[in-house]
Amino acid sequence: MLNKNYNLNPDQAGELRRLVIDNRENREKISEQNFISKLHTITVLSGKGGVGKSNIAASLGFALADFGRKTVLIDADLGLANLDILCGVRNARYNIAHLIEGSRTLNEILVHFKTSPRAQSLNGSVSLLPGGYGIKEIADLDDYAMEKLFTVLSELEINTDYIIMDAGAGIHKGALSFAYASEITLLITTPEPTSIRDAYGVIKSLGAAAWQENNNPASGLMLVVNMAASSREAQEVAERIKLASIQFLGNSPMYLGYVLKDDAIERSVKNCRIFYRAEPDANASICIRNLAGELLRIFEGIEPEHEHLNQNNSNSQKKQPKKTKQKGISSFFGRLAEYIIRSKN
Ligand SMILES: Nc1ncnc2c1ncn2[C@@H]1O[C@H](COP(=O)(O)OP(=O)(O)OP(=O)(O)O)[C@@H](O)[C@H]1O
Ligand SMILES: [Mg+2]
Repeated sequence: MLNKNYNLNPDQAGELRRLVIDNRENREKISEQNFISKLHTITVLSGKGGVGKSNIAASLGFALADFGRKTVLIDADLGLANLDILCGVRNARYNIAHLIEGSRTLNEILVHFKTSPRAQSLNGSVSLLPGGYGIKEIADLDDYAMEKLFTVLSELEINTDYIIMDAGAGIHKGALSFAYASEITLLITTPEPTSIRDAYGVIKSLGAAAWQENNNPASGLMLVVNMAASSREAQEVAERIKLASIQFLGNSPMYLGYVLKDDAIERSVKNCRIFYRAEPDANASICIRNLAGELLRIFEGIEPEHEHLNQNNSNSQKKQPKKTKQKGISSFFGRLAEYIIRSKN
């Protein structure tokens, strides 16, 4: 989770307290179950648009499922929510707007994807919460509606291992709220100078919120270089961003890894398929598996190669979860509601 200190006025503080207390029992239950299912939360964002966020967010979901993890993708792109199309869902019948209206239940809205035989054998799964226009309206909801919405969304925290949010491009309150509420944020950039410049802009906007918390590897902002010609080029791009960040901001984000430029992605996008599923042996898919492995190492402390080769079932893959330090409200959606309320005022 990112560090961010806000000053609340008494009204906001009162509202927040109500939000928390009203659902305390529910949240405590969820928090307990979180511990059991060891939920982890990841926001994917970028400075410049079109750098591969949605493809990476969705593919990571499927790669984590191949490691036996239960993943929920949330299309939180305020600009253009299109994860459903990218994942081959022609017309998501319902989206988050139906939850806001209260006309559909969470189960009716969630889209469950077919995963690989490997994922199925390991009980890995991928579901999507389509964004639609509803995502935009969240920030404008009154507090009662927001509380209701986030209480419903909190159900997602039960029995989920990873929630991955595609928060779209640019620095806006919505994306920042998702970043503050998540444990880690993946900042996607390409080697293009404009993309590097805009990535730096995001780091600057997050400020102190971008840095790792108390040497906790599962916190803060992490760089992912997409469309790299080679691992070397990706590393050079990451180094440039880190150097500028250290020079002007006094600290730098971590470098998580890279995805090679690969025609498989363009081919898959044209066919409304997610490349990781359509071409699992493509270079870009191998890169995604490596990134998923890094996430498992960071969050769960396991060595991905060892797991990949030697494990036969999901239970034996999972180490006993460590209880991580919780900050304030323990439910992820509770935290998200807190940040959205704060950003409104
Ligand atoms: N590693 C890659 N190699 C080749 N092409 C890629 C790669 N990653 C992404 N692309 C191309 O970039 C396009 C944009 O990708 P994507 O929609 O995932 O970006 P985005 O950052 O989510 O965009 P937006 O900001 O509009 O939401 C894809 O349609 C694909 O053609
Ligand atoms: Mg996108």
